[in-house]
Amino acid sequence: MVSEKMQDALNGQMNAELYSAYLYLAMAAYYEDSDLPGFANWMRVQAQEEMTHAMKFYDYLVQRGARVALDTIEKPPFDWESPLDVSERVLEHEKKVTGLINNLVNLAMDEKDHATNNFLQWYVAEQVEEEESVGAVLQKVRLAGNSSSGLLMVDAELANRVFNPPAAQK
Ligand SMILES: [Fe+2]
Ligand SMILES: [Fe+2]
Repeated sequence: MVSEKMQDALNGQMNAELYSAYLYLAMAAYYEDSDLPGFANWMRVQAQEEMTHAMKFYDYLVQRGARVALDTIEKPPFDWESPLDVSERVLEHEKKVTGLINNLVNLAMDEKDHATNNFLQWYVAEQVEEEESVGAVLQKVRLAGNSSSGLLMVDAELANRVFNPPAAQK
């Protein structure tokens, strides 16, 4: 069993992962509208990944005999200023999620809940990868600057990103 406090915190993080999926889907829609299908594809892939992050929390709660509680998902923004603006917001969001995961680890340590701490370590490692990959895209968008051809080159590269289902992830 996990404590009630931990159960609530894990449900809270499941909601944050669902919001991440929602946010990235909104960003994908912005890119579709901006005729940047590669960027849209990248955000769609990110949204799918966030859904698997949410489901891992769902499954863990079930596994521990805890209750899954779905909450309202916050409405994401509708519009952004530019591809650079979106990329900066993605990195900002991932850093925020890293902070949330760290807080959860702190709670698991406070409660001496070793099983949950162990479960959360997957997310600790995942956030390092997320920040690295998002940071790399942001850097390319910064380098492209105001050059349309530069942006189209990044777009062509991001069109190749594919979703790897969790079973094939490790
Ligand atoms: Fe996530
Ligand atoms: Fe993420």
